[in-house]
Amino acid sequence: MPDQEPEALQTQPLGSLERTHYCGAIRDSDIGTSAVLMGWVHRKRDLGGLLFLHLRDRSGISQVVFNAETHPEAHERAEALRSEYVIAVEGPIIRRSEETYNPNLDTGTVELVAEKLTVLSTSKTPPFQLDEEDRTSVGEDTRLKYRYIDLRRPRMQRNIQLRHDINAAVRKSLSDQGFLEIETPFMTRSTPEGARDFLVPSRIQLGSMYALPQSPQLFKQLLMVGGYDRYFQIVRCFRDEDLRADRQPEFTQIDVEMSFVNEDGVLAVVEGLMTSVCAAAGAREPDLPVPRLTYAEAMEGYGSDKPDLRLPPMAVVTDLLAPEDLPMQGPLVAIRTPAVGQLTRREREQFREFAAEQNLRIFDDFRGLSKKMPEQMQAVRDRLQADEQDFLVLVTGAKPLSGPRPDQAVLAAAGNLKQLIGAAFADRHGLLKDDDLRFLWVTDFPMFEWDANEGDWTPAHHPFTSPHDEDIDKLIADPEACRSKAYDLVLNGVELGSGSIRIHRQDVQSKVFEALGLAAEEANHRFGFFLEALQYGTPPHGGIALGLDRLVMLLAGEATIRDVIPFPKTAKGTDLMCEAPNTVPDRNLAEVGIALRVRAKA
Ligand code: AMO
Repeated sequence: MPDQEPEALQTQPLGSLERTHYCGAIRDSDIGTSAVLMGWVHRKRDLGGLLFLHLRDRSGISQVVFNAETHPEAHERAEALRSEYVIAVEGPIIRRSEETYNPNLDTGTVELVAEKLTVLSTSKTPPFQLDEEDRTSVGEDTRLKYRYIDLRRPRMQRNIQLRHDINAAVRKSLSDQGFLEIETPFMTRSTPEGARDFLVPSRIQLGSMYALPQSPQLFKQLLMVGGYDRYFQIVRCFRDEDLRADRQPEFTQIDVEMSFVNEDGVLAVVEGLMTSVCAAAGAREPDLPVPRLTYAEAMEGYGSDKPDLRLPPMAVVTDLLAPEDLPMQGPLVAIRTPAVGQLTRREREQFREFAAEQNLRIFDDFRGLSKKMPEQMQAVRDRLQADEQDFLVLVTGAKPLSGPRPDQAVLAAAGNLKQLIGAAFADRHGLLKDDDLRFLWVTDFPMFEWDANEGDWTPAHHPFTSPHDEDIDKLIADPEACRSKAYDLVLNGVELGSGSIRIHRQDVQSKVFEALGLAAEEANHRFGFFLEALQYGTPPHGGIALGLDRLVMLLAGEATIRDVIPFPKTAKGTDLMCEAPNTVPDRNLAEVGIALRVRAKA
């Protein structure tokens, strides 16, 4: 927390003074020239007659030296400077003596000798130190409350710069590929993404509400009807849903839609886009074409629809054993984690506990099993392509299985265990490295998911997603078997984007609504304007939306999207800095026809 006020130091106007360099920009080639730097006092080291100061701006840090003998006035005033004061310094750039080179700074071989110091602004003592990179000493709540100070940290500045670079690369890559950037409304009506809407009451039409868009889905399809056959937008979306490390109530999508394309056409555009983005971010470019797995393959090999390709797939090995060899409930799954070697007892315990939590029965004494049934276990090894040092376990369901798709539950649990084991060895064995970027397409998602709460089918993507041509006849008769033309882009186990080829035929759209149990009347009420538009010459079209925050997070090597968003919300959806959401006076509510039943605590 800010403590006592610093003693006053007279501030001076900027006047006509002009900055000549960013703090991080001075180099050997500037030696001998005179420079004007402006920035924040990062750190000060007072050695009596000489005072060294690190001056910081968003580009980096320069060392400034004040000499009591040669420039007594500037030196005296510099003694009174404190952290985060904003100053301007003028003077010659000189070479540092070699033993004082700072290899950690780009400017580490030079310094500015301050002949003149102008104090532009003072600062209260900041609530946390900025000259240390270790964030663990500062709680995230404090960082978010004083976000404008947190944003000065070199790490945040790197992330915000990276976000800009990625945005610029997206705009360039898509513009070069003939896409137009087109804006769509924020004040609109409910969109079909399945989360709750944020509502905005109308004052002019009392009792009516706008909804903030969960995505521009309908508008981008309408742009296709309107003939803008290649659209993109870097767009804010709003969803009232439970928040996590990779979810915010407002977030940004790179939203894309194209006409006259099939799936391959959309995927090729996105692969080109990701190549440009990785190049702009200084990351390794993806190997092209990006590998593809069908949803069914992803579930079988990874127990997840967002496989992390940095770990090898697991294998269903039920067929390699006889029922009397091991007790099995559902599939028997073999998991391999590479290059692990010996396990500690604690690690073994941790995996057993996690398996139990996941309703799995675990067989982790692979050596024992190999003695008991050498042939079967050799077959398991072969299927997994295992090495001597690999850690192998077998898992199956812990109890008799019930519910929809019980085998999938075992596969999903096994996938979670595989990821946990990989994470446990990540540091020791170099698994799951942040800079090992593994892009993957997951295709052929099921068309529908069973919603046990509602007792109904729901769209696995959204209701405008096209079924496979050969599955159209199954829409009503066998919805479970229908596959869709939906695809996800996955990066290191994170869903980066989702998209699909859309339905552009009215009869297919009606069948999908029917399969979803959506009466024509209700469909008309919700999406009538859109369904009507489809009847006026709709080209075949498809698209995708990529989560920009997630993309920047992964390329920055951060664990949460909050660290790549300038002003994010907490897990409770609050902005700690400006204290939103907040209560509003009754008179403002009355203007929009609202009387509250529940009052927020003041
Ligand atoms: P979807 O709902 O899958 O698809 O969203 C696309 C991508 O947006 C990102 N995302 C989020 N990021 C941060 N916080 C959130 N709350 C959040 N929700 C989603 C994810 C996700 O993959 N209209 C369709 C796209 C299409 O079909 O073209 C859509 O919005 O990275």
